[in-house]
Amino acid sequence: MIHDKLKPFPSEFMWGSASAAYQVEGAWDEDGKGPSNWDQFVRIPGKTFKGTTGDTAVDHYHRYREDVKLMAEMGLKAYRFSVAWTRIFPKGKGEVNEKGIQFYSDLIDELIKYNIEPILTIYHWDLPQALQDEYGGWESREIIQDFTNYAVTLFKHFGDRVRYWVTLNEQNIFAGLGYRTALHPPGVKDEKLFYQVNHHANLANASAIKAFRTYVPNGKIGPSFAYSPSYASSSKPEDVLAAENAEELNAHWWMDIYAWGTYPKVAMDYLVRKGLAPTMESGDLALLKEGKPDFMGVNYYQTTTFEKNPLDGVSEGKMNTSGKKGTSQDTGIPGLFKTTQNEHLERTNWDWNIDPTGLRIALRRITNRYNLPVLISENGLGEYDKLEDDDTIHDDYRIDYLQAHLKAIQEAISDGVEVLGYCTWSFTDLLSWLNGFQKRYGFVYVNQHEEGEHDLRRIKKKSYYWYKEIIETNGENLPR
Ligand code: BG6
Repeated sequence: MIHDKLKPFPSEFMWGSASAAYQVEGAWDEDGKGPSNWDQFVRIPGKTFKGTTGDTAVDHYHRYREDVKLMAEMGLKAYRFSVAWTRIFPKGKGEVNEKGIQFYSDLIDELIKYNIEPILTIYHWDLPQALQDEYGGWESREIIQDFTNYAVTLFKHFGDRVRYWVTLNEQNIFAGLGYRTALHPPGVKDEKLFYQVNHHANLANASAIKAFRTYVPNGKIGPSFAYSPSYASSSKPEDVLAAENAEELNAHWWMDIYAWGTYPKVAMDYLVRKGLAPTMESGDLALLKEGKPDFMGVNYYQTTTFEKNPLDGVSEGKMNTSGKKGTSQDTGIPGLFKTTQNEHLERTNWDWNIDPTGLRIALRRITNRYNLPVLISENGLGEYDKLEDDDTIHDDYRIDYLQAHLKAIQEAISDGVEVLGYCTWSFTDLLSWLNGFQKRYGFVYVNQHEEGEHDLRRIKKKSYYWYKEIIETNGENLPR
């Protein structure tokens, strides 16, 4: 659709930004916090870029007031952050750690003081290590009860002040990288277990949403899905079919469950044939149907292009976690699909495709299939930034990236999509799980590095002032 005039952004549009506890907080063992799976994983040599850890991260735990003040100066309307489960329950369950509750309560109050809407993510990948040790974490159905209990504790303490909630951040990524490629904790490669773990996460998600209706009846809740829309590499029918396979197994497999409580049929038939389908118990499907979200949270970074992959074709390829352009490899599932480079798209130094139109396509596909409002819970550009001698950072490439994505959102809104808000990734620079501190996303530079001097100073980048103006004008002056 080509519009001669675009609709304006809604007046209540949440101009936001996002973070995650492990990536910003630091204070990994302070005030009663227990160890998480990430606290343990990063200590295994070779797992992260130059062995970086979130022990200090960007020290948001001690500097949250300074960070919120910077948000307020910018005019930010919403801030998405996650709670570290191990601050609330150091062992994942049992006694509540009051100091953990206090920290998030203070953070929420500080945000509200400046009229910044808190968007609370219940789980952004940092599982209590105690639960991993006791029953394998997501591998056991016991997690459903413990996760629900943890979520309810948050609902009871913060439901009076927090209206927007995200249940699980990128379930597809934490299950996939944790149990398929072994790049994230617990570092397992087991395709069958991956589907089982994912089923338990679906049940935990639904169970928490069901409980939410009792404790926060006026709030809104949904998961955040890492959606990378599938393209076909050519109009050859076999490539189009490969892209269909990918969309079904990489996207519908999650979003159909979230929205409808059902697994997509063709994908399920395939997994049953392969002996990979999750084991279900009676009552599971009923619970999944009771977990309907109020919105689909979407983390959008890029699209993926697919072509036919023969039965003896490509399987797992390497991810680029070094920032050396061109070092990632194609991946695939023999007999289903394989990824291929899209020659029409530029790529970042970490080989992520830059595709603003892909975001519009994502929003359109979600709206057409599920008819749910969308919260864009993450979008942003991870790049090297240079701190100049005069303490400035000229991140025009980030401004270009975000501006183009905002234009795509406005076009999607003009198409008829309901978008609740836009959370950029991220507000301050933070720890990129596998890529260290050199891959930066923030509006605010943090002087934190893998090596050398790091005084954790906050410095506004050029993009900070750009977003401030976008918010002030409610996105009215985006270039056409
Ligand atoms: C999302 C995550 O997958 O992408 C974030 O929710 C993450 O936690 C972001 O940081 C960017 O990924 P990366 O690997 O560049 O840090």
